[in-house]
Order: sequence, then structure tokens, then C-alpha cells
Amino acid sequence: MWQLQPLTVLLLLVSAALQDADLPKAVVFLDPPWDRVLSEDNVTLRCRGTHPSEDNSTQWWFNGSLISNQEPSYFIASARAEDSGEYRCQTNLSSRSDPVHLKVHRGWLQLQSHRWVYREGDRIQLRCHTWRNQQLHKVTYLKDGKGMMFFHQNTDFYISKAAHNHSGSYFCRGLIGKNNVSSESVNLLVQAPAVPTTPAVPTTSQFFPPWHQIAFCLLMGLLFAVDTGLYFSMQREFRSLMGGLKNHQIKWSRDLQDK
Ligand SMILES: *[C@@H]1O[C@H](CO)[C@@H](O)[C@H](O)[C@H]1NC(C)=O
Ligand SMILES: *[C@@H]1O[C@H](CO)[C@@H](O)[C@H](O)[C@H]1NC(C)=O
Repeated sequence: MWQLQPLTVLLLLVSAALQDADLPKAVVFLDPPWDRVLSEDNVTLRCRGTHPSEDNSTQWWFNGSLISNQEPSYFIASARAEDSGEYRCQTNLSSRSDPVHLKVHRGWLQLQSHRWVYREGDRIQLRCHTWRNQQLHKVTYLKDGKGMMFFHQNTDFYISKAAHNHSGSYFCRGLIGKNNVSSESVNLLVQAPAVPTTPAVPTTSQFFPPWHQIAFCLLMGLLFAVDTGLYFSMQREFRSLMGGLKNHQIKWSRDLQDK
């Protein structure tokens, strides 16, 4: 049995590694989905991760430090510039999420979008958000300093099919009363399409990455190796047993002849 010990240790190591790596990553969602907001906006961060049925306690980190909130959602009422930073979360059966960067700007306007990196062919939505949702009119969306779209009333601007040349620096401006106000510029990037094209909504494959399967195959391979090892050692023992018996027989018959 001694020859099985290294394999057993290896198996234990693999299963220990699996237990840790097995946990899907938690994901932080913003509600509403904008990562750039204005002061006094309300923002809710939601943690999506697996947890034991009776325990939905959640850990939250802000700029790397654990915060006291243990609810699955973290509500920021009337955001301030100091709420800007990196948020992460984790539940009991998930590993720590990737960070979500929230930027709270003190100003009149904020250009908003679901994200700032798109794939070619995606639909892009741009939004010109005003402080305390005040009325904005004569709105222009600009790219690299040039007007792209004009609306009399504040309206979201859609680019139905993103192309590489839509990458650039965007901002919006318009009138609040008689005030001519502008947002900060934001860089938007349009990348070549992924192969195969990834849907915009998170899919289960994000929660159960393929190394899960790789680890499974590894485990199966190990079990096979153990099995094969056992088979050959059994065969070897059986043969030596048979060999021993034969020798004994020969010796025995010789003994008989000698008599
Ligand atoms: C944030 O929520 C409060 C309370 O519901 C509301 O009065 C306020 O208008 C909200 N702020 C914005 C900018 O929508
Ligand atoms: C706001 O000011 C810019 C120049 O800074 C001007 O080009 C633009 O026409 C003005 N917008 C409105 C709606 O008056």
C-alpha cells in the first residue's frame, strides 16, 4: 500500500485547491447602473454572490478597507465626492469581487453610460445627467470637441452599432435656465468584437469559469492513474504468487521423484 501514499497526498492537495478555487466570484452591480454620478445622487451597490440559505451576510470593501455594512446592498444616500472610490464585495460562498469604481463629481452635468469600453457592434447609450435632475435644454453631445448630436430637450443619445471610430473623448453641454453648462470629458473605447461575441448581460460562464472543468478532468485523470497503479500492482502480486506456487509444485514433484 505504501506506493499509494504520494498519490493520496496529491489527491488531497487537488481537492483542497478545488475548494478554494471552486467559489465563484461575487459581482458588484450599480443601481442605477452609472459609475459616474453627481453629488446628492442616490446610489445603491448590490452584491451578487452565492451564500448559505439562512445566511445572506455580505462583506464590503471601500478602497481596500472593510466597512461595517453587512447587507447584500449598500445604499449611498445623497452621494458626496468622498464616496468616490473602489468598491468590492464578498459573500460566504463566493470569492471577492472585482472592483467597481464609483466617481462622484461636484458639478452641473455628468455624462453617463453603462460602461466605457464597448465592443464593435454594441449599442452605446449616452446620458447627460443634471445636478438634482434639473431641466436641461439645447443639449449637445460632443466627441473630440466636435458636436455629434443636438437635442432641444434633454434626450439620451444612442449609437446603434459601435464602430472603431466611435472611440474618443466625449462630453455634453446645454442650458440650465440661462446657464451654459458642460460636463467633464470621458474617454470611450470601442474594441474589436470578442470571439465569440459576448452578451452584455453577465452569463453563468462568468460565475463558473472553465478551470472548474479543468480541475475536474485533472481529478478524473488522477483517479484513473490510481486505478491503473492498483491494477498493475495487483497483477504483479498475483503473478509472483502464481510463480511461487509453480516453484513449489516443481520442487514438490521433484521431491516425489527423488523418493
Ligand atoms: C435621493 O433620495 C431622496 C429620498 O428618496 C430624494 O428625496 C432625492 O431627491 C434623491 N436624490 C436625487 C438626486 O434623485
Ligand atoms: C455654450 O457655450 C459654447 C462655447 O463655450 C457655445 O459654443 C455653445 O453654443 C453654447 N451653447 C448654447 C446652447 O448656447
